[in-house]
Amino acid sequence: MKILAFESSCDETAAAVVEDGRRILSNIVLSQIDIHARFGGVVPEIASRAHTEAIIPVYRKALEEAGLDATEVDAVAVTNRPGLIGALLVGVNFAKSLAFTLKKPLIPVNHIEGHIAASYLTSPDLKPPFLALVLSGGHTSLVEVKDYTDFALIGATRDDAAGEAFDKASRVLGIGYPGGKEMDRLASMGDPTAIPFPPAAIRDHAFDFTFSGLKTATLNFVHNKKQLGESFSHEDLAASFTRAVCLAIRSRLENAFRTFPHKTLVLAGGVAANSHIRREVESVCKSYGITPVFPPLSLCGDNGAMIGAQGYYNFMDGITADESLNAFATSTMSFKF
Ligand code: KG4
Ligand code: ZN
Repeated sequence: MKILAFESSCDETAAAVVEDGRRILSNIVLSQIDIHARFGGVVPEIASRAHTEAIIPVYRKALEEAGLDATEVDAVAVTNRPGLIGALLVGVNFAKSLAFTLKKPLIPVNHIEGHIAASYLTSPDLKPPFLALVLSGGHTSLVEVKDYTDFALIGATRDDAAGEAFDKASRVLGIGYPGGKEMDRLASMGDPTAIPFPPAAIRDHAFDFTFSGLKTATLNFVHNKKQLGESFSHEDLAASFTRAVCLAIRSRLENAFRTFPHKTLVLAGGVAANSHIRREVESVCKSYGITPVFPPLSLCGDNGAMIGAQGYYNFMDGITADESLNAFATSTMSFKF
């Protein structure tokens, strides 16, 4: 079954064709990073307009690379939550019109579930049940994946998302937006014990995260240094910040591994590209006899293929939509999540 999938929940306009949830026939991602960089973050209205301009060329390219005509796809899948509402609506309306015109089924997909499904595309043996940790610019979710379409949210951030924290720390360092990748590079050259930042975990909850204390501590550190006219090492700051994130991830995963019987952990989302986090996750998994599954860097960030992968399993479970399909900013109204 060939699914044409669309993703437009934030600042990437993406379309892909995926076969049977596992094989990528094409995967086109047009990033808006350059458009938003000068504002230091995503401007929702500009994102919606950029999606409107990009969606038809991206759709055409996805079909062209797959070597297919639109009539040859079996269904159309689209992210309809969570995300920026205006951005989501561009993808939802386009996918809806296309499905209606082609007389093909329309499949709604939760973006977070899509991030998890990215690993089905490169790990042929991966099957639920397993645990998943989604670390992205907008979300930090620890999830029990009971089945392909049956999810239980067991932990989340109480405030900022992991990627947001990386982006805010990099902004205060003046190293550009989004700064996760540059923070990763700087951290490799710094001393992770140089600055004692608070770990990003909630003490009274086994699985929840908090990044606001770490963010404030980072901002205060930098502002104090500036006020005193003292210089500091960006590398040490990035390394210490990353260590605080890694310690929180380690403690949340240890609690989860002690509580749930699953033997596999899937890491997902844009922040899953972080080399230090990958190493930390690998190390904690090793201690508990858990197999870690990492998506390739190209599938960590937002893309259409992950929506096509989850879309396939949604379709198999009868999760389809009609022309009344709408977009939702939050994940709470989702079908199962
Ligand atoms: O999953 P994603 O593409 O978008 C959302 O669904 O939000 O994640 C984007 C986030 C950004 O905050 C970006 O700074 C972060 O992923 N990111 C990283 C790295 N690469 C991207 N964060 C830390 N280390 C990286 N190597
Ligand atoms: Zn995402």
